[in-house]
Formats: sequence, C-alpha cells, structure tokens
Amino acid sequence: MSFIATAILAYLLGSIPFGIVMARLFGLGDLRQIGSGNIGATNVLRTGNKLAAFLTLLGDSGKGALAVVIARILVGEQAAGIAGLCAMLGHLYPVFLRFKGGKGVATFLGTLLALSFPAGVLACGTWLLVAVITRYSSLSALIAALMAPIYTAFFYHLHGALLVLMLTALIFYKHRENIMRLKAGTETKIGKKG
Ligand code: G3P
Repeated sequence: MSFIATAILAYLLGSIPFGIVMARLFGLGDLRQIGSGNIGATNVLRTGNKLAAFLTLLGDSGKGALAVVIARILVGEQAAGIAGLCAMLGHLYPVFLRFKGGKGVATFLGTLLALSFPAGVLACGTWLLVAVITRYSSLSALIAALMAPIYTAFFYHLHGALLVLMLTALIFYKHRENIMRLKAGTETKIGKKG
C-alpha cells in the first residue's frame, strides 16, 4: 500500500463517529442535541450511560491507534505520523457527518499512544490527573495536549513533536467554546448534565 493510500484509509477510519454510533446503538438519541452537542465520550457520559461512553472512548482512541499501526506496518514511520494526522482530521472533519466532527481528544490520545507509547501514557496520565483535580474534561484535554509535544520530543523525536504540536493546535481550535466557558466559569464538570 502506498503512502497516500494509508493516509486516505486513516482519514476514513478517523471519520467513523463512534459517539454517534454508540448513542444510536444504545438508543440514547442524537448526541448533537444533547449536552454540549459534541460527538465525544464526555458528551455520551452526560446521557448517564457509562458503557456507551467507555465504548466511544475505546472506538475513538482505537481508530487513531489503528491508523498509525497500519501505516507503520505497510509503509513506514513517516507514514505512521501522517496517518495519525489524517485520523485526527477525519474525527474533526468527518466525511460521514458533512465535515462537522468532534474535538479529537480520544483520537489524539490513541494516535499518540501508537506513535510513542511512553509519550501517550504520560499524556493520558496528565489528562487523568487534571480530571481528578478539576473534574473538567476540556481543561484536562487542553493541558494534556499542551504537554504532549514535550513528551513526544523527549520519548520519540523532534519531527514527531512538531506533528503533535499541530494536533495540539487543532485541539485548542476545536475547544474555543470550552475555553470561553472555562473563563466564564460556566463549563460543565465530568458526568454532569450541563
Ligand atoms: O473530549 C472532549 C472534551 O474535551 C470536551 O467535551 O462535550 O465537554 O465539550 P464537551
């Protein structure tokens, strides 16, 4: 398989909106009409269905990791990094949802775990630590995304860190409304309906 084919496959994998799929499977309705309207695991959790939220987290992170692993095996390490970027673009701008996607946190963490396992584990740990302290999913994601390029530079390589920095910028861009709510003190905490 060629470099471009693995990039396209990664984009299509990233485009699968597991939150929407799980919400339908579990009869929770249209996720875009619930809570923040986002298609991610945090918003699925607002329905009260922990299993559906967990499966969304697993699916959205797994698709990023799978895209990276497929590209690495079939083409090589450079293709793996580009596949991670394409999987993220798929989640943020999915072809299956008319390019209106999610915020990319689970896909980001899955991609990072596959690119550099230690950097991914540290980013997940950062998310968890901030989440335990503050109970804000968005703030946890923003801080984990800020730290991720540093972890990547340390455990992977500088080129990888630049790529991860691009993903960090995308995550910040997609969290514009969350950042405003955090500043205003109106952001919903994890598990709360909001
Ligand atoms: O993973 C997405 C999270 O950072 C924010 O989600 O639904 O609170 O906007 P939400």
